[in-house]
Amino acid sequence: ETILWSPEDAGKSGYNHYMLKEINEQPRALRQCLRGRVNELLRIVQVDEVINLETPNAVQFVACGTSYHAALYGAQFFRECGVMAQTFLASEYTAATVPMGEGTLVIGVTQSGETADTMRALREASAAGATTLAMTNVVGSSAARECDHAMYIRAGPEISVAATKTFGSQQVAAVLLATALIGVADQSLLAALRGLPDHVQTVLDSSRARDVAEAYLDADSYFFIGRGYNMPVALEAALKTKEITYKHAEGFAAGELKHGPLALVTEDTPVFALLTAGVNFEKTLSNVREVEARGGPVIAVTDSPKEVKGYADHVLEVPETHSTVAPIVANVQLQLVSYWIANRLGRPIDKPRNLAKSVTVE
Ligand code: G6P
Repeated sequence: ETILWSPEDAGKSGYNHYMLKEINEQPRALRQCLRGRVNELLRIVQVDEVINLETPNAVQFVACGTSYHAALYGAQFFRECGVMAQTFLASEYTAATVPMGEGTLVIGVTQSGETADTMRALREASAAGATTLAMTNVVGSSAARECDHAMYIRAGPEISVAATKTFGSQQVAAVLLATALIGVADQSLLAALRGLPDHVQTVLDSSRARDVAEAYLDADSYFFIGRGYNMPVALEAALKTKEITYKHAEGFAAGELKHGPLALVTEDTPVFALLTAGVNFEKTLSNVREVEARGGPVIAVTDSPKEVKGYADHVLEVPETHSTVAPIVANVQLQLVSYWIANRLGRPIDKPRNLAKSVTVE
């Protein structure tokens, strides 16, 4: 008798690709990350793994790839909490040249806990006297074993080379860690974190990403723009698109568009704009107008569809929530867009050419 499926296919639970399965697993992954850590009544966040960790004077994040984008988001949140925080690409980090004061915490964000660049950066930081923390998905990984502390993102196994569910979990873990270390939590933020898995589910259930992907399949290049917490999401969406569609894609801080990239915008350059409510909304909208004036198609990922009407050719809607959390939800729409473009182009989505899930060489 012919066996039409491999054990690996069985692991996909009916999805054609692990990537799509893992995108759809995000509500569960996020629930696991939050479980037992948020106390809304007492307005505190408690992360058992770091209960003995003192509030750092400064934080340095080191990471690669998707984890680097989560680190950019996390550092921004730490800064908003009043902690000096920076993000470094692990491959560019040398403890000797980065000023490190007393009480500096170096956080390695690494899904696998095995990335060579990140491990080297963490080892150097440790040798220079920093306290190190691994923010990882894998219990018993090198990062978890070697760092002074380890915080688990609890996303569950991720098989697809392109990281998806671990990104959102890393973002949430960073918010939880900062809040746990600082001690005070904004009630509306905690409520938004509680609602996050449901908001992501809403996007998964109602997304028009497939239609949008279909409409722009022929583009040679895709741009993604966002400000503030949406900036790392723009970078991540471009990375995802490059990895799995093999098409050129770039993510920009929306404000930088006019300092160069705008020269490339034509009617063949779809621009995905992250337009979630908050202090940056109006400014990003004015960047969208600049794109529109050059004839570039605009796809708005937004919780404010009325406000973007007239500026956007397509709208990918996300539920309204706290402005810090909204970008995590918006990202899911863009994961789906990249997935459906790659799917329609017949790419080997789970195992893109030249890439590996875990890169253990520098
Ligand atoms: C590889 C993977 C990426 C990942 C990066 C960092 O390049 O293909 O998806 O973001 O490594 O991996 P880490 O396990 O350290 O998060």
